[in-house]
Amino acid sequence: MKLYNPGGERGSAMSYAALLEKIEIMRSTLRWATRLERPDVEKLLRQANTLRDEVMGLSHKERFVQAVSGDVPVERRHEAAAEPVVEPPTGERRRALLARSFVFEGTFGDNPKLLDALEIAEKAAPTDLPVLVDGESGTGKELMAKVIHANGSRADKPYVSVNCGAIPDSLLESELFGHKKGAFTGADKDRKGKFESAHKGTIFLDEIGELPLPGQVKLLRVLQSHEIQRVGSDETISVDARIVAATNKNLRKLIEQGTFREDLFYRLSVIHVTLPPLRERKDEIPLLIAYYGDEAAEALKRAPVALTPRLRGFLLRYAYPGNIRELRNILYRLSCLAGQTADLMHLPEDIRPSSTSAAPAPQADGAELSLAEAKRVASDEAERGCLERGLQEVGGTVAELARRWDMNRSHLQILLKKHGLHSKDFRKEH
Ligand SMILES: Nc1ncnc2c1ncn2[C@@H]1O[C@H](COP(=O)(O)OP(=O)(O)OP(=O)(O)O)[C@@H](O)[C@H]1O
Ligand SMILES: [Mg+2]
Repeated sequence: MKLYNPGGERGSAMSYAALLEKIEIMRSTLRWATRLERPDVEKLLRQANTLRDEVMGLSHKERFVQAVSGDVPVERRHEAAAEPVVEPPTGERRRALLARSFVFEGTFGDNPKLLDALEIAEKAAPTDLPVLVDGESGTGKELMAKVIHANGSRADKPYVSVNCGAIPDSLLESELFGHKKGAFTGADKDRKGKFESAHKGTIFLDEIGELPLPGQVKLLRVLQSHEIQRVGSDETISVDARIVAATNKNLRKLIEQGTFREDLFYRLSVIHVTLPPLRERKDEIPLLIAYYGDEAAEALKRAPVALTPRLRGFLLRYAYPGNIRELRNILYRLSCLAGQTADLMHLPEDIRPSSTSAAPAPQADGAELSLAEAKRVASDEAERGCLERGLQEVGGTVAELARRWDMNRSHLQILLKKHGLHSKDFRKEH
């Protein structure tokens, strides 16, 4: 199993053996010390801090392995199977991807749409073909570009990212292709452009839909000739950069509107990968919650936050217009704001359901709930959460859930009715 580690730090050659050795060194320092002066204490503290960070790093690394190997704790495995998987046998495609040492920083489950995208990326990666990744904001386009780079033969060569939407028109050419000293006011020395920096590696053209038409013409020329000219220079320089482009726009629509060149579209989209929005891969939500719950805990140096059943229910049903980025931000927020357990009140206000609050809900006449009533509300919530998870696990088949829980089916139906739950809502296609 390879681990992709663009930052360099996280996947360093740390191992349990190396950590144990460091701990042993600290222990023997302590064992043989008759007394410790303050500087010695400081030094030991520093060593302990480094060790703690390394353990954190190691646990991060372990988590990547866990997240992608399917070796997740039992309760999470259940969560991962939250929605029914149509293709039998479950998990085979996912396992096959992993068995082929597919490098993926992040997590994925059995969602067919996402697996389609990952399998295309896997096949495209070892080639030099241009790839166009599209999908809504926050669906993981940039991550996908890195995955393609990391799984290809250029993995140890540069990966250069350009945000086409963020470069002013006047600087675009110089940014992409570089310039010669004196080419324009402010060009006080020769400068390499992004294409040259990406030589032998990959250039990621993010937000390609934002590239203005003159920039599109220049880009097309480079894609055809594999050569660039720095601004102000006659010299042509060969560049061998693999292109991965991304957009959250519908490029075909932009072509119809005349703001995107059709010939450039076809050049860029030899391989076309579409990332589905999170609402179309809801079965990935439990995995992502666990993944980001752990990541946030680690970043904030705290224990992973627990979620009340009603918050969990909300997170599983929410539509995530901001996709995975939004889910990630929510988990970080919950981990930061909540104590041990997060509830609806810790959600951002704009998405928080208005009828709920963490405190017992005041009754219509404004009086606080009685203790007995508060208990009933809590128990109802727990019951509902349990039913929802159960239904998710069995893909909405009530008979199967009744069998698993060794329960009378009609009693189970009554409970579902009580909570307004419909088994068909938990089926894959409805
Ligand atoms: N399958 C996944 N597992 C874990 N994290 C993911 C996954 N897919 C995406 N992410 C995370 O979601 C966040 C958003 O992803 P990314 O930046 O790649 O999205 P994007 O499509 O480029 O968004 P935008 O269009 O807004 O630029 C990142 O933090 C990324 O690491
Ligand atoms: Mg992006």
